[in-house]
Order: sequence, then structure tokens, then C-alpha cells
Amino acid sequence: MIIELAKNYGFCFGVKRAIKKAEQIKDAATIGPLIHNNEEISRLAKGFNVKTLQNIRELSNEKKAIIRTHGITKQDLAELKKQDIEIFDATCPFVTKPQQICEKMSAEGYEVVIFGDENHPEVKGVKSYVSTKAYVILNESELKDIKLPSKIAVVSQTTKKAENFMKIVNFLMLVCKEVRVFNTICDATFKNQEAILELSKKSDVMIIVGGRNSANTKQLFLISQNNCQDSYLIETEAELKAQWFKSKKHCGISAGASTPDWIIQKVIKKIENLSKN
Ligand code: F3S
Repeated sequence: MIIELAKNYGFCFGVKRAIKKAEQIKDAATIGPLIHNNEEISRLAKGFNVKTLQNIRELSNEKKAIIRTHGITKQDLAELKKQDIEIFDATCPFVTKPQQICEKMSAEGYEVVIFGDENHPEVKGVKSYVSTKAYVILNESELKDIKLPSKIAVVSQTTKKAENFMKIVNFLMLVCKEVRVFNTICDATFKNQEAILELSKKSDVMIIVGGRNSANTKQLFLISQNNCQDSYLIETEAELKAQWFKSKKHCGISAGASTPDWIIQKVIKKIENLSKN
């Protein structure tokens, strides 16, 4: 069986940057998980004493706080600044961007459409910067019953698909006089998506490695499943099953933007062993 890695996969720039920062800062607490990968979070906890808090209310006597890759809300940041704690910002610059756009556009009187998952921490953070009205939606049909203003700005959660973002933009163009479009979809996600699309077309089994709570990993899995029925999302090599590879010829592998390389290597090794038997 041929085992092939996607041309682009795994850790993105924002995640690499956040992990490097956390390793350098040490002995700190992150507000929410630093990245969406449990294995890497435990490695940082064990090796660098970087612990994960669910929210700022859990802070007790920590001296250093690290803001996670997905960012936090404007209100939480203000609250954090009032406390006697050193703040390190590991928010990915691609996430800071839509936060700034929302702040600026709403200050200029625009209401804002955010294409994204309402409950995702990144979206919660971005939305908190809108001082007018924000509409968080997953598709254009959610806008049909809303009386939209004449001028509107639109941004996207970094991990969303460009095609779907364009559908929302098209809809807005038809109903609003002025539409300010900011393509805030992250390049890294896009490259990983393009690569898995290509690889899943020629593979008869696909393994996607990443956190089940990671939006971009789930997105990769969905793209893969569209082309290759036998697509599996796993967090570690322990989940791999020998029967998945039985009489398969081409195994494609990809990984979400917060999946560390050491996990991917373990997965490859185990697949090699399983396919030999
Ligand atoms: Fe940033 Fe994109 Fe990664 S938004 S955290 S570089 S997936």
C-alpha cells in the first residue's frame, strides 16, 4: 500500500508561533486551550508548566497569562488587564485581523455579518469587537428574514470555505446598497484544503489526524469524505484499525492545523505496520 502525505498539512504558522511562545514563556496559564489539540496541550503542561484554564474566572495566583491562538473577547481582555498579571498575546495575526476590522467598521457605523460558528471561541472573540449589530451565520438563508441595513461589512471565520463565503457575499450584494467584503479566510487552512482535495481523489483510504474539537480538522475530514468514502478522523495512532487498510492500495494522510508533527509520524509508523500484516 502506498502511503502519501498531503502536499500541505498540519501545523500552521499561527499554531507554530503560539507553541513557540508558550515554550519560551513557561509557568503560565492560557485562557482557554492554546490550540485545539489535547495531546500538544498535555505536552506543554508536563514539559513547560503551561496550564489551561477554561476562562478568566479560573485565574487564581498565576503570574502570567497567555491568550490562545483563537483570541478572547474584548471584554475578557479588558478584565484581564485589570488584574495583576503579565499578559502574553498568542492570538494568531489572522484572527486579530477580523477583530480589528469589526472594531473599525462598526465604529464607522457598519453592521457586520460574520460567517462562522456562533459557539466557536474565535467567532465569539471577533463578534465582541462589533459595537453595532453583528449577525453570525452559517449560510445565506439565515439572512433572508432579517431586515438588513443599507451598509454592511462581512468577514469570515478563518477556517471556513471560500465558496460558501462567496455565496453569502453574493446574497448581501443583492439586498444591501453597500457591502464591504473582507476575506479573512486563512491561507494555511486553504492550502491544507486544496491539498486534501487532490489527495482524497486518488486514495482509497484517507486518515485525517487532528482534534475532534478542531474546526479546520473537521473541515478537512468533510472534504476528504466527499471524494473518498473510507475517510477516518483520528486524534492519535491508538484509534487506527487494521481492517481500514485491508486490500487498500493508496492511503492518503492529512492533519489539521493544530496537529503536531510527532503525532503524525506515530500515525504513519503504525499504518506502515498495520498494512504489512
Ligand atoms: Fe492562524 Fe490560520 Fe493557523 S488563522 S492559527 S494560521 S489556521
